[in-house]
Amino acid sequence: MPKPTQEQGRLAKKLIEEYPTAGKLTLAKRLYRDFPQVYSSVEAARTVIRYHKGEQGEQSRRSIIDLSHVDDLDKVLADKFALPEPAVMDREPYILPKANTKGIVMGDIHFPYQNNKAIYEAIEYGVKKSISYFIINGDAIDNYHSSRFTKDPKKPDLDYELEMFWQFLIDLRDVFPNAKIIWKFGNHEERYDTYWKQYAPLLYAPGSEKLDDYLPLGDLNVEVVKDKRRITVGDLNILHGHEYTGGAGQVNPARGMFLKARCNTLVNHFHRSSSHKGRTTNGDIIRCYSLGSMCAPQDYSPYGDQDCSFGYLHTVEGVTYVNNREVE
Ligand SMILES: [Fe+2]
Repeated sequence: MPKPTQEQGRLAKKLIEEYPTAGKLTLAKRLYRDFPQVYSSVEAARTVIRYHKGEQGEQSRRSIIDLSHVDDLDKVLADKFALPEPAVMDREPYILPKANTKGIVMGDIHFPYQNNKAIYEAIEYGVKKSISYFIINGDAIDNYHSSRFTKDPKKPDLDYELEMFWQFLIDLRDVFPNAKIIWKFGNHEERYDTYWKQYAPLLYAPGSEKLDDYLPLGDLNVEVVKDKRRITVGDLNILHGHEYTGGAGQVNPARGMFLKARCNTLVNHFHRSSSHKGRTTNGDIIRCYSLGSMCAPQDYSPYGDQDCSFGYLHTVEGVTYVNNREVE
């Protein structure tokens, strides 16, 4: 339809304001009766009313200026602005299927600086409990040479680290042939992308090789969760721990996460095991946990206050219980 004239619009809007609940046809009849010199027919008047209410089709909604008489403002705004999809990343959680009620979570292995004893204990516990899933919760490899810190060129390279991790995955699949094995990326995996973005941004294109492309993970049915997506197991969110800015590990990492996440959460990243429980005003209990690492003390902080632990998770009727098992 052609855009209504100023006079047609003014009279129609005045009548809508006067009788905001009246039907469009009723208003149109009144307009045509009172102003036959302005509207050629009842239908012509009804079309003008529909235009100002934002009901005259997408094209008309794009040209509408005065939004004060619109009934469905959401619809009109969507057509008028027609904003493209936001350039944000997919943050949908990876939701573990309910059938999986027992599993192991461990992270911060930092191959090739791993703590073998801690790894063996976690696997042994998983075998004893007949787990159905195994989550490697970030920083599986150290990715030392992609670090932004000062580097020792004599340290093992990425190829060596990936080889170690791949052999570990092969052995893990042997021990748990039917379990879900999930590798969530932490900040050390993300170092790979960060390095490319920083030093070769033109080569960092959609479809270019990513860290997980180096390993034939599909052959072992290992699933990857990256881009800071969380894993949800029952009522528990699992994050690596670097997904929030500002850190959380100064005193009690679990309490730090409690203040940030405000829901049941388990993290790695801080290399220190801790737990914190709090009650909301509604009486709901929120539980947060941080796991220790699966690696030896690292050169940048050889005497740091760190420990090793893994989590045994057991879900009953949607509630996930965490047994944070420290390794001495
Ligand atoms: Fe980390």
